[in-house]
Amino acid sequence: MKTLIEFINEEQAHNPNATGEFSRLLNDITIAAKIVNREINKAGLGDIMGYEGKQNVQGEDQKKLDVFANDMFIEALKHGGQCCAIASEEDEGLITFNNKLSNNGKYVVAMDPLDGSSNIEVNVSIGTIFSIFKRISEPGKPGTVDDLLQAGNQLVAAGYIIYGSSTMLVYSTGHGVNGFTLDPSVGLFLMSHPKMKIPEGGNIYSINEANYIYFPDGVKEYLRYCQEDDPKTNRPYTTRYIGSLVADFHRNLIRGGIYLYPGTRKNPDGKLRLLYENVPVAFLAEQAGGKASDGFRRILDIQPNEIHQRTPFFVGSKHMVEKAEYFMRYYSKEFEPKK
Ligand code: AHG
Ligand code: MN
Ligand code: MN
Repeated sequence: MKTLIEFINEEQAHNPNATGEFSRLLNDITIAAKIVNREINKAGLGDIMGYEGKQNVQGEDQKKLDVFANDMFIEALKHGGQCCAIASEEDEGLITFNNKLSNNGKYVVAMDPLDGSSNIEVNVSIGTIFSIFKRISEPGKPGTVDDLLQAGNQLVAAGYIIYGSSTMLVYSTGHGVNGFTLDPSVGLFLMSHPKMKIPEGGNIYSINEANYIYFPDGVKEYLRYCQEDDPKTNRPYTTRYIGSLVADFHRNLIRGGIYLYPGTRKNPDGKLRLLYENVPVAFLAEQAGGKASDGFRRILDIQPNEIHQRTPFFVGSKHMVEKAEYFMRYYSKEFEPKK
């Protein structure tokens, strides 16, 4: 049985420049994850469910667990001292720390502390998503917004924690994707899914079809394709939609499938946030042999202008994403972002 710590140390041993700081950063993330996991497991007991009574910068009502998870990850990263700035879904501005250790930290983190929060009360899987970049500003001072505004192709690492029927950490440092399951009896993440690969094709599509009338024609045509009768290509496919990106992606990663959150005429950028939802999930998809795009462009090549920026999102099995892109190019050219 390999523990996460053993695996991180092994991976870092191949890197002659490694100072141990990255390992500590990842370790801090897992400490917060275990605390959040403990709290999630108690949802229903005590006063942890329901709304905080405030809205976040995106105008979404914050749940108590959104705020709790946000505080835990910030605390862990602050005390660790490797991270000089955080962008979080739950905070409008950049989070920096007024201490020397953190100001000398090499890394910045973008995070969605609790993804799928509408599923907390109903005992359905939720997650945490994170992106890790190296800072570009000089150390010695707090990190800056520019440190966070890096394209996904600059990522040092990204991953998610899924709080599901078991709790897993799935992450990549750019050398493939590995999954670790939390053994709650000993409180350790143990390697359970080495070298994860997403099937090149699949028969699951995941989309909130209630928005159908607003979808671009390219998405409507792609859905029609998914629903056509063609036993040779395994169609009609099947729909699975949980409403937690982490959980929908995790299932599709293992089984093969596509997740779509397109833009619409009203919201051309869709709903999901580039830096802490789309980029980290896109990175994992590519590292597992899959693909991620906004319908036209590779997600990891998009230069962000704003920490809470949104983009349309198509992610999953390579052949399925390519097919959806084909329909977007053919039927929805007007949605293509201007160069
Ligand atoms: P969050 O809970 O972090 O706000 O994210 C919710 C996101 C994502 O996880 C999910 O796939 C999507 O919103 C669901 O949106 P719809 O309810 O519009 O389908
Ligand atoms: Mn989310
Ligand atoms: Mn969230």
